[in-house]
Amino acid sequence: MSGVAALHSCFALLVIITFFATSTTSSDTISANQSISGDGTLVSANDVFELGFFTPDGTNYYVGIWYKNISDRTYVWVANRGTPLTNLSSSAFKIGDKGNNVVVLNQATNIVLWSANQTEANSSPVNPVAQLLGNGNLVVREEGDESSNNYLWQSFDFPTDTLLPDMKLGWDFSQGLDRFLNSWKSLQDPSPGDFSFKLDFHGYPEAFLWDNGTKLYRSGPWNGIRFSGVPEMVSTSDIDFTFISNQQQVYYSYEVNNPSIISRLTVNSTGYLQRFTWVEDSQSWSLFWYAPKDQCDNIGECGPYGICDTNGSPVCNCTVGFSPKNPQAWNLREGSDGCVRDKKLDCSTDGFLPLKGMKLPESSNTLVDMEMSLQDCQKGCAKNCSCTGYSSANISNGEAGCVMWFDDLLDMRHYIDGGQDFYVKLSAADIAAYGGLFAQKSSSNRLGTLSIVGIAAGGGVLLLALGAFLMWKRKPLVISRARNTEPRGALERSQDFLLNEVVFSSKRDYSRENKPEDLELPLFDFNAIALATKNFCDENKLGQGGFGCVYKCRIEEGPVVAVKRLSKNSGQGTEEFKNEVRLIARLQHRNLVRLIGCCVELDEKILIYEYMEHKSLDSVLFSKTKSSMLNWERRFNIICGIARGLLYLHQDSRFRIIHRDLKASNILLDGELNPKISDFGMARIFGRDQIEANTRRVVGTYGYMAPEYAMDGLFSEKSDVFSFGVLVLEIVSGKKNRGFYYADSELNLLGHACKLWKEGKGLELLDSAVGDAYSMNEVLKCIQVGLLCVQEHAEDRLAMSSVVLMLSSENPTMPHPKNPGFCLGRPVETDSSSSKHDETCTVNQVTVTMLDAR
Ligand SMILES: *[C@@H]1O[C@H](CO)[C@@H](O)[C@H](O)[C@H]1NC(C)=O
Ligand SMILES: *[C@@H]1O[C@H](CO)[C@@H](O)[C@H](O)[C@H]1NC(C)=O
Ligand SMILES: *[C@@H]1O[C@H](CO)[C@@H](O)[C@H](O)[C@H]1NC(C)=O
Repeated sequence: MSGVAALHSCFALLVIITFFATSTTSSDTISANQSISGDGTLVSANDVFELGFFTPDGTNYYVGIWYKNISDRTYVWVANRGTPLTNLSSSAFKIGDKGNNVVVLNQATNIVLWSANQTEANSSPVNPVAQLLGNGNLVVREEGDESSNNYLWQSFDFPTDTLLPDMKLGWDFSQGLDRFLNSWKSLQDPSPGDFSFKLDFHGYPEAFLWDNGTKLYRSGPWNGIRFSGVPEMVSTSDIDFTFISNQQQVYYSYEVNNPSIISRLTVNSTGYLQRFTWVEDSQSWSLFWYAPKDQCDNIGECGPYGICDTNGSPVCNCTVGFSPKNPQAWNLREGSDGCVRDKKLDCSTDGFLPLKGMKLPESSNTLVDMEMSLQDCQKGCAKNCSCTGYSSANISNGEAGCVMWFDDLLDMRHYIDGGQDFYVKLSAADIAAYGGLFAQKSSSNRLGTLSIVGIAAGGGVLLLALGAFLMWKRKPLVISRARNTEPRGALERSQDFLLNEVVFSSKRDYSRENKPEDLELPLFDFNAIALATKNFCDENKLGQGGFGCVYKCRIEEGPVVAVKRLSKNSGQGTEEFKNEVRLIARLQHRNLVRLIGCCVELDEKILIYEYMEHKSLDSVLFSKTKSSMLNWERRFNIICGIARGLLYLHQDSRFRIIHRDLKASNILLDGELNPKISDFGMARIFGRDQIEANTRRVVGTYGYMAPEYAMDGLFSEKSDVFSFGVLVLEIVSGKKNRGFYYADSELNLLGHACKLWKEGKGLELLDSAVGDAYSMNEVLKCIQVGLLCVQEHAEDRLAMSSVVLMLSSENPTMPHPKNPGFCLGRPVETDSSSSKHDETCTVNQVTVTMLDAR
C-alpha cells in the first residue's frame, strides 16, 4: 500500500514539474495548484473511472465522473448539476481555496462558478490533493494520508442519481449527512429532478422513492436479509449487501466482490429505481431489477389494513377480520380507502393472526428491540392497547428481535414467494373464527390451547398454514420463480442486526417475468382458418374495421367463432405480436369479448374471438326494424355493462389499457343482448409508437373522439370517457352522433342533448322506440352521466369508476355538466356568461379549420 502511495506522490510531483498548472494530465490526482480544463481528465488508477468536462446537449457543460471504458457513456456523478457552464474554454476544475472541497472557476477572472458542499468536519489542510479513486469516489485529502476516515471531502457523500458499490445511502448523524439519490431532470439535463430515493431512519428503517413531496414506493424495512419489499434479493457470492443502523449512522450499501462486475443503482428521470449490470459481450447495460414494478408497488394501493396481491383479482383484499371501509369504491377496484376492523379489540383477550409471505407494513412508527424474542414481542404487543401487530426484526438466522407497530397497518402486500411472517392483532372472536394465536390462556377454545403449544414449539409455525389457507384463495401460480432462499453463510453471520452483512443475487433472470409462457392461448393453423372461411370469402364476412376484416366460421369441429384477419401494416414482429396477444388474452371480463386463440403464420396475423349472436350494437340501435328490441331495461343494462368493461380496462388490468376507438360498432351483443367491448387490445397491437401520450397519427372515429385527441392527438383514459359519453347519449336517443362539424344542433347529438338538458327537457332525448316502460330517473341519470363524460376539458370528465358508481346508485350526487366538447346550442340560461360562449365558439372554429385542412 505504501508503495502505491509513494508511487502516487512521485507521479503527482512529476506532473507538477512537467505540465504546470492547466495540464491535460491523465493522472488520478491533482494538487492544489493544478486544475482540469478543456478535455483534460482524471483517470482512476484502475482505469475504470474518468472525471472531466462533458456536455449532454452541446451547450451546457458539466464536470462529471463516468466509466472510462464503457462505450454507452454513463455518468455516475455530476458536480455542478444545477449550474451548467456555458463557456468551456474559460472554465477549470480544481481544489477550493481552503483546500477542503472542489470548485469550478473562471480561469481568467478566478471567479468561482460552482463550489462543492462542505461537511461540518472539514478542516484546513496543509497540502491537499484531489484523487479519483478506483471505486469512482472523488476525494480531497491531505497528501500522503490515504486513510479513508480522513477525507476532507468526498463525492460519495453527495450522490447524484447513482449508487455505486461502496457508496452509502443514508445518514451519518455526526457529520450531518443525508446521502440520497436524486434523478436527473431528463436524459439531457442533469439538474435536480423530481424523484429521490431516501432512507428514513425512524422506527424500523426503510427507503422511500419520492416524487417531490409524495411517496411513490417503499423498499420495506431491512429484515436482516433484504428489504422486506424486495423479495428478489437472493444471495450470490458476487455482491454483498450491508445495512448498518446504530446511534451514529443508518445506511444501506453494497459491495461487489468480483472486479469484472460493474453494477449500479439509479433513480431515473421518469421516477424508477433501476439496477443495472454491464454486459461486456453485448456492450450494453442489462436491467435486472426495477421498481415500482406493479400495481402493488404503488404506496397505498389498498389503503390501511388492505393487502395487495398481484395474483389476486381484485388485487386488494382486506386482512382477515377487516372489511372494506368504502364497499362501493372497493367493488369498483378503488382500494385506497382500505379496510376497517369488524370486531373491536378489547385490549385484554385479543390475539394474533399470522400472515405469511408479507411485505411488512410501513414501519416508521414502530418500536424495534433487538434483544426481545418473538414470544416476548407477542406479549409486549398484547399488553399495549395501541399495538396493532408485530414481527421478528431479523430473520437472517431464524427469528430474532422484535418490531411492534402502533398505527394503522399501511401498504402491505403478499408475495407468493419471498415474503415474511407478520402477526396482526385481532379480537378473540376473530381468532376463534379464523384461527391464530391467543394472547391469553383464559379462553377454553381448542384452537387457543393449540396455539400456545404452537408458540412453545417455536413460533406457532404449525398453525401458519391454516391462517394462510383461510386468508387467500390463491390463484394457481402462473409464473414460476426460481429462488435460492438460503443466504450465503447465514449461520456464520453475526446475529446482531445492527452490524450485519447480507448477500443477494445479481444473476436472477428477470426476463421470465415478462413472458408468461405458461399461459394457454391456442394457436390455430392458418390453413384450417382459410378452409373454414372459404378462403376469406365475402359471404362469410361479418364486417370490416380499421384493423381488418371479420369473418364468421366454424373451425374444424369447434364452435362458431369470429375470425379477425388483421391488415398487414401493424408494424409488429411475430414474437412481439404473440406476447401482446397473450397479455390481452389474460384480460377476462364478462363485458369484454373473449379471445379464444390466434394464428401467426408468415405475414398473417389472425385473432379468433367468441361469436356474438346479435353482432354489433350499431346494427341494432340504429336500425329502424331492430331498435325496438332494445327496451329501456336492455339499454340501461348495455350502458352499465360497457361502463364496467371500460373500468376494467382502465383500472383492473396490470397494464392499463386505453381503448381509443370506443364506438357502437365495437360493442357486440350476445344472445341475451349483453354488451361486450371488442377490439380492446388493438391500440396495443397496432404500433407501440402510437401509444405514447402524444400520437403522431390520430386513430379513432370522428364523432366519438374527444376534442383534445382529435385536435392535438393527446389521449388518456379521459378520451375513452368522452367516447363512452357519446355512446351513452346515442343509446338513450337512438341517434348517431354525426361528428361535431354540423352547425345544425339537431344533427349534432351532443349539442342537442346539452340544449335539451339545459332547458329541462332531457326526457325528449329518449328514443321513441323504447316505448312507455322506462324509469324516468334512470333515463335522466344516464343523460347526465353522458353529458358529464363529454365535457370539453378532460379534467372535468368523470373517471369510469365514478360513472359505474353513479349508474349503480339510486340517488347519486352528481355535478352539473359544463358545456360538452363542441356543444353548440345557444346558452339559454341567463347565468351562462358570454365569455363561456365565446370560448365554445373558438373551439368550434378551430375544429372547422382543422377539418377543412384535411
Ligand atoms: C470564452 O472564454 C474565452 C477564454 O476566456 C474567451 O476568449 C471567449 O471570448 C469566451 N467566449 C464567450 C462566448 O464568452
Ligand atoms: C426509467 O425506468 C423505467 C423502468 O425500467 C423505464 O420503463 C423507463 O423507460 C425509464 N426512463 C428513462 C427516461 O430511461
Ligand atoms: C404503548 O406503546 C407506545 C409506543 O411505545 C407508548 O407510547 C405507549 O405509552 C404504550 N402504551 C401503554 C399503555 O403501555
